[in-house]
Amino acid sequence: MTQHIPKVHLIAGARPNFMKIAPLMRRLSEEDWCRPVLIHTGQHYDAAMSDIFFTQLGIPAPDHNLAVGSGPHGAQTGAIMQAYEALCRDHRPDWIIVVGDVNSTLACSLVAAKDGIPVAHLEAGLRSFDRTMPEEINRIVTDTLADLLWTPSPDADDNLKREGIDAARIERVGNIMIDSLVSMRHRFDTERHWHVLGLDPGAYGVVTLHRPSNVDDAATLAAIVEALTAAARDLPLVLPLHPRTSAMLETFGLSDRLRKAPGIHAVPPLGYIPFMSLVTRARLVITDSGGLQEETTYLRIPCLTLRDNTERPVTIHEGTNRLIRPADLGTAIGAALAAPIDSDRPAPALWDGNTAARVAASLKNRMSA
Ligand code: UD1
Repeated sequence: MTQHIPKVHLIAGARPNFMKIAPLMRRLSEEDWCRPVLIHTGQHYDAAMSDIFFTQLGIPAPDHNLAVGSGPHGAQTGAIMQAYEALCRDHRPDWIIVVGDVNSTLACSLVAAKDGIPVAHLEAGLRSFDRTMPEEINRIVTDTLADLLWTPSPDADDNLKREGIDAARIERVGNIMIDSLVSMRHRFDTERHWHVLGLDPGAYGVVTLHRPSNVDDAATLAAIVEALTAAARDLPLVLPLHPRTSAMLETFGLSDRLRKAPGIHAVPPLGYIPFMSLVTRARLVITDSGGLQEETTYLRIPCLTLRDNTERPVTIHEGTNRLIRPADLGTAIGAALAAPIDSDRPAPALWDGNTAARVAASLKNRMSA
């Protein structure tokens, strides 16, 4: 009789998932007690938003691609659910692992939970306490459904316990994204992407913006463009533009204003290695991303986050990150450049490059219980 090797689905859908899935896929592929199966929902599908991350992070081609594409939240979430439910009928896994807080995370968790398939959530417990963010809804629902919740930091454990989640389901494993950063760091220096753009290390800023709250409103986006073009006169700014942001700049007639401003380097979305090569040598980062707040904390680079709140408060407590409003951008840049940063401070506990190993050990333990 052949031995049953448990099948574990790893779900990836959007750009911020890929650097979390890569170390986990690699680690689980080395284990003999489970068979990892990679599912790409196709939430992100452009080569620059998806394929390039698979190549640069060494992720194998997905076993299944649901190819759902873009759409409003209901349509996108529903399309992923329908496609994943059909897949599970033919290729039922023993467990699924979802990461982060995108629509793919929520959709696949819902399907699995209703089908009686156990769900593990990696990056569980983060809360912005702002339900106007679609990601906050995704986080809350996914954590309610998950059988096993892997957290990156103590605040996440506290959030889950406060919501009444049984402590026995929570395990702190650390920050999986730092695994990718640590394992690829040697590539960032050889890449020297700042050099490709004609910039000097330590003498430019990196800006990423894509949240609907910043880019979907004409007045808000215009105010941000004004502040960035003013700041770029003193500190060159590199802006790898998310497709949503490029589209909104065009729609609001702001594209030329930004692209032609002195000191502004507006470029297409970048792959993981060139992007992190830029970030590693940046003087400053301005962002509304979640992951970049953490990467700058690890790298001890000042980060200004254009949001009212963050689900990653540890980045604020560590002294690298500050929440700001668009109207305060100019003064905040000046203050950030003037403030000293304690570059010797150690990284937060368990942000050490070994999270995938802890996740694998935890899953093995649960599956054999
Ligand atoms: C999604 C996540 C967000 C994450 C972000 C990272 C949700 C709710 N949001 O937001 O948490 O921070 O990814 O990028 O899951 N588009 C393309 N090519 C692509 C993908 C998207 O052109 O490959 C365009 C489409 O016009 C699409 C728009 O970008 O409508 C937004 O894409 P979508 O996946 O809906 O959300 P993001 O804003 O990328």
